[in-house]
Amino acid sequence: MNVILNNIKKIYNNQNDNFEAIKNISFNLLDGEIISIVGKSGCGKSTLLNIISGLDKQTRGEIIFDNKNPKISYMFQTDALLPYRNVLDNACLGLELMNNKTNDNIDKVKNMLKEYGLKDFIYSKPNKLSGGMKQRVALVRSLAINPDLLLLDEPFSALDYYNRIKVSEDVFKILKNNKVSTILITHDIAEAITMGDKVVVLSSSPSIVKNIYKPNLDDNLSFIDKRNSQKFNDLYKQIWRDLNEK
Ligand SMILES: Nc1ncnc2c1ncn2[C@@H]1O[C@H](COP(=O)(O)OP(=O)(O)O)[C@@H](O)[C@H]1O
Ligand SMILES: [Mg+2]
Repeated sequence: MNVILNNIKKIYNNQNDNFEAIKNISFNLLDGEIISIVGKSGCGKSTLLNIISGLDKQTRGEIIFDNKNPKISYMFQTDALLPYRNVLDNACLGLELMNNKTNDNIDKVKNMLKEYGLKDFIYSKPNKLSGGMKQRVALVRSLAINPDLLLLDEPFSALDYYNRIKVSEDVFKILKNNKVSTILITHDIAEAITMGDKVVVLSSSPSIVKNIYKPNLDDNLSFIDKRNSQKFNDLYKQIWRDLNEK
């Protein structure tokens, strides 16, 4: 699904004062694209995703979806799996909420779990899983409803450095294979560059778009090889400079 953001502004109106979190953000997401949004802590990234998801409302500006009733999946930093449900039942939660837990769909979810390395854990409780596995279950749950748009808010932040790279690479392949239109929020420059078709760099709060880059790295390279390329290094330095300017 294509998504256009036009001059989004967000002012939080509190009892005593108004706080401007987002000054002006515009960008386009093309169907099947992954956009990474990178910015310092507090610059309004989660606010923006809340607005795109419909959980919150912008103060000004418009969001145009090329679909009347887009199906949007929203995955947070913490996996939020229900501890008393097994992996399959957790992964089917979204389908259940949408009243769409058909046998066909359950089979589809089982196949995804198998494909994503969770074959032996389909009937296990979440406490038997590693952090990376939990995130994969959460991702399967997000994808099970076949979303038009996937929103990921710092989905790998709770993982250690090694797993962060491994899991983000797995997730990247899954999203690309399924051509999922995705907006990924991160404060990790390397993650933004390796995952994104475009990288939107935000300024400090109240945020504006500082720059939009197209890394154009070879999708077939491993994430480690991507990180060793000259293009990656140049872009990393450029984004670092952008973030330090204010
Ligand atoms: N409900 C709210 N009311 C007032 N201010 C808020 C609210 N939610 C977030 N903020 C403020 O808006 C700014 C952006 O927050 P957030 O979008 O969570 O940033 P990020 O995700 O980039 O770290 C922060 O200064 C935060 O304190
Ligand atoms: Mg946030």
